[in-house]
Formats: sequence, C-alpha cells, structure tokens
Amino acid sequence: MLVPVTFEGAEMMLPEGANLAAALLAAGVGAFRTTPVSGAARGPYCMMGACFECLIEISGATRQACMMQVQAGLVIAKPKGRANGAG
Ligand code: FES
Repeated sequence: MLVPVTFEGAEMMLPEGANLAAALLAAGVGAFRTTPVSGAARGPYCMMGACFECLIEISGATRQACMMQVQAGLVIAKPKGRANGAG
C-alpha cells in the first residue's frame, strides 16, 4: 500500500514498509543531503548502515534512511549543518 510522506516539502506516495532509502531513490530523489563544506550532493551508497551518505532529518533527528522503513506521514528534510561529522 502506498502511503504519503513529505520530502523537502514535496508530498509523495511511497510503499509502506519498504526501505526508506530505496523508496526515495525509486521515487527519483537522488540527493538526500549536501555536504556542509562544499555543498556537494550526497545520496545512499552502501545501503547497509556503514557509509552515512544517506543521512536525512526526521522530526529534528538525523537518521540513516537505509536503516528505516517507510511509514505514513514521515516529514523528511535534508539535514542542516554538520551531521555526525559527515563531510
Ligand atoms: S547508504 Fe550507507 S549508511 Fe545508508
């Protein structure tokens, strides 16, 4: 079943229970965050919780999208500032 989520203010329908990073990629979202130093776009790489390239912000908390499942009503944003020292 598809459920509504919001990414950077844009509502989209994603499959409930799917891996969040995979679902966002399949929906056409390639840049999950930008680096705080150069502003370069970053997106999922390892899909197993090791690289931290898939960081997103949900309800003010920085999370790894590849370690989460799609749930109805998620409000997702690109992390602001330095997140976990990732550059
Ligand atoms: S894609 Fe590497 S930690 Fe999520």
